[in-house]
Amino acid sequence: MKYRALGRTGLKVSEIGFGAWGIGKGLWIGASDDESLKALSRSIDLGLNFIDTALGYGDGHSEQLVGQLVRQRSEAVYVATKIPPRNEVWPARPGTPVVETFPADHVIKCTEKSLKNLGLETIDVQQFHVWSDEWVGKGDWLGAIQKLKDQGKIRFFGVSINDYQPENAIKLLESGALDTVQVIYNIFEQSPGEKLFPACERHDVGVIVRVALDEGGLTGKITPDVTFAPDDFRNNYFRGDRKQQVYERVTRIASDLGITLDDMPETALRYTLSHPAVSTVIPGMRTVRNVERNCQIGDGAGLPEKTLERLKAHRWDRNFYQ
Ligand SMILES: NC(=O)c1ccc[n+]([C@@H]2O[C@H](COP(=O)([O-])OP(=O)(O)OC[C@H]3O[C@@H](n4cnc5c(N)ncnc54)[C@H](OP(=O)(O)O)[C@@H]3O)[C@@H](O)[C@H]2O)c1
Repeated sequence: MKYRALGRTGLKVSEIGFGAWGIGKGLWIGASDDESLKALSRSIDLGLNFIDTALGYGDGHSEQLVGQLVRQRSEAVYVATKIPPRNEVWPARPGTPVVETFPADHVIKCTEKSLKNLGLETIDVQQFHVWSDEWVGKGDWLGAIQKLKDQGKIRFFGVSINDYQPENAIKLLESGALDTVQVIYNIFEQSPGEKLFPACERHDVGVIVRVALDEGGLTGKITPDVTFAPDDFRNNYFRGDRKQQVYERVTRIASDLGITLDDMPETALRYTLSHPAVSTVIPGMRTVRNVERNCQIGDGAGLPEKTLERLKAHRWDRNFYQ
């Protein structure tokens, strides 16, 4: 496993990090705690040292599993978690005052709750689970973040940028308040490369890439007849003819690159790691098998220039969360 600087934090994080939404259950149906713990443990064996979770993932369940694992291991493992907006609206809607989303008392209360779920004394990266640049210079949240840093309860602060709005954190980033951003970046969603990544490089802000596999769309496993358990959020994400659309797009990518559908997860992860602004990519993993496949990819090798050039044509601007 290779490691990269997480912006100016001084942390060196594994190229492959662990996306821990799915193991929290909640909107993802089908994880077993036993397999999730084995997957987490195997990832640490393979050199992974960065885990992304959230207070909201399974109402703290993901944090509890992550904390259990981290406490058992002697290796340094960095944990990032997230504070949900108090109004529980994802993503942040324009015009919403920050007092409705991240007032100081909520920031502090949620951090205390996460520390308890994790069973740890410090959170390495505390993130807001949504963000709007309208909130720069407003409210009392920044004082709360500073207080938590001073108390040693959090080390660094980041935001998880709203889906498909990569530029809606640049003002905050330029204000100097941010240590990291988390953003959707994948073969379909290429827009963070335009303005966000250059801004992160200029300000030495760490980049955590989420949804590199398009919630499974870029794994080659979303075929027109695949089904999900009732209540799994992907019934909505891939509703109607979306599975067919995804399958056609991914088949075209594979044939354009001369690879098989089975090679797609590797190509999709390497795509994200090919950008120099990216610190770590956090695929969602619930099984030892996926951990073993994905951790092999953190070997420092990006995709060849020619492949990256070809992939530009496969950009697909759309929002399946809506
Ligand atoms: N707003 C936010 O802040 C936000 C939103 C979304 C995600 N996130 C974070 O980003 C992480 C990643 O996003 P995600 O988990 O939603 O989606 P993702 O990483 O794009 O995709 C996860 C899917 O890919 C599958 N997968 C992983 N590795 C694979 C492999 N090698 N071969 C085949 N399939 C593979 C998983 O399989 P299984 O189904 O078998 O597990 C799962 O279905 C989350 O876990 C979370 O930490 C944050």
